[in-house]
Amino acid sequence: MQLQFKSWMLALLTLLVVFLIFADISEVEEEIGNSGGRGTIRSAVNSLHSKSNRVEVVINGSSSPAVVDRSNETAKHNIKPAPSTWRHNQTLSLKIRKQILKFLDAEKDISVLKGTLKPGDIIHYIFDRASTMNVSQNLYELLPRTSPLKNKHFRTCAIVGNSGILLNSGCGREIDTHSFVIRCNLAPVQEYAQDVGVKTDLVTMNPSVIQRAFEDLVNETWREKLLQRLHSLNGSILWIPAFMAKGGKERVEWVNELILKHHVNVRTAYPSLRLLHAVRGYWLTNKVHIKRPTTGLLMYTLATRFCNTIYLYGFWPFPRDQNQNPVKYHYYDSLKYGYTSQASPHTMPLEFKALKTLHQQGALKLTVGECDGAT
Ligand SMILES: *[C@@H]1O[C@H](CO)[C@@H](O)[C@H](O)[C@H]1NC(C)=O
Ligand SMILES: *[C@@H]1O[C@H](CO)[C@@H](O)[C@H](O)[C@H]1NC(C)=O
Ligand SMILES: *[C@@H]1O[C@H](CO)[C@@H](O)[C@H](O)[C@H]1NC(C)=O
Ligand SMILES: *[C@@H]1O[C@H](CO)[C@@H](O)[C@H](O)[C@H]1NC(C)=O
Ligand SMILES: *[C@@H]1O[C@H](CO)[C@@H](O)[C@H](O)[C@H]1NC(C)=O
Ligand SMILES: *[C@@H]1O[C@H](CO)[C@@H](O)[C@H](O)[C@H]1NC(C)=O
Repeated sequence: MQLQFKSWMLALLTLLVVFLIFADISEVEEEIGNSGGRGTIRSAVNSLHSKSNRVEVVINGSSSPAVVDRSNETAKHNIKPAPSTWRHNQTLSLKIRKQILKFLDAEKDISVLKGTLKPGDIIHYIFDRASTMNVSQNLYELLPRTSPLKNKHFRTCAIVGNSGILLNSGCGREIDTHSFVIRCNLAPVQEYAQDVGVKTDLVTMNPSVIQRAFEDLVNETWREKLLQRLHSLNGSILWIPAFMAKGGKERVEWVNELILKHHVNVRTAYPSLRLLHAVRGYWLTNKVHIKRPTTGLLMYTLATRFCNTIYLYGFWPFPRDQNQNPVKYHYYDSLKYGYTSQASPHTMPLEFKALKTLHQQGALKLTVGECDGAT
């Protein structure tokens, strides 16, 4: 009897754990690779904040009354004192690198390598375990033989987020001085060079970008546009999260085909199957309860491995800047803050808070205002 009771309890517990894990993961997905693409997220962020009773700012691009409330909140995120007082703490950076290495190794996890997969292999999507994809010949051909980051070390790295906070920042020159520049989601640079720079050593591309920025290549005009953008990468690393969420497969295949057919000079990389969970694991142990890391946070986490000092630009998940002026969600398009649906949270304000703390501790430098051109 006793024994039976125990095994019942055990079964119940197991069920509960499975349920929790599942619930957690199902909240994660979106954006990376997903077709829906156009943001969601808000209510979840809301509930998160009401739970923690600390309104971190909820993002809503409209000028609803709620925004006025919130815009006052941005004041709390003022990360002055001025840049000149910021000091890099090398000891701390090294400590962070060491801790992150317990969870992942950017050298390995930045891409699946040729030796580990072959055409026809079946992969379960990370966020949609029930869905599978079949490794195509093209994908196989584009897998790198060795890590694009093998033995790489850079004195300074810039990670450039896509927030409209970059507009009129004049940060372009400063960004381009860094040894290694990481950009997100194939964001345009030429037209915004003064504020965002042009140097690109690694750029990410969620499959949904093909839909959002290139009209799913409906006709020759759009194919040509994408092709030009890829050509302009001129040998840099193109990082495509191909195994995250179902729905992106065709888009990834289109891009792969284009690259091969036109001999585009890019070094493709496809993040490892364990990267997302490893990154979450690291931040969770540091009490940052991100649901699904943004590309920006992924990049920071990876960069700690091979960058001595890390500078972040274009990270600002709030609708107003420090002077209460409105800020565009992306510097380059008219996407609105889409935190409206019941689906998964991108816990951007939480992430930002964590990054801000690291800035204050001297582990990284966050620039959210103008660059003075002195650097
Ligand atoms: C912003 O919030 C207002 C009021 O809460 C709501 O009516 C509107 O749909 C929201 N817009 C977006 C883009 O979230
Ligand atoms: C913001 O809050 C402060 C008090 O914390 C208040 O004095 C100020 O008027 C508020 N500003 C706006 C724009 O609501
Ligand atoms: C740098 O970080 C280390 C490790 O966290 C800490 O012990 C040290 O006090 C920090 N140094 C400064 C100058 O803040
Ligand atoms: C995977 O793709 C290859 C080539 O397209 C095909 O021959 C093979 O049957 C596919 N395998 C599965 C399990 O779909
Ligand atoms: C391609 O589609 C766009 C609309 O997405 C249209 O403006 C353009 O004229 C089309 N080009 C061609 C060559 O059909
Ligand atoms: C492309 O990269 C090569 C080698 O890094 C460089 O010499 C060349 O100037 C670059 N071309 C453009 C158009 O950026």
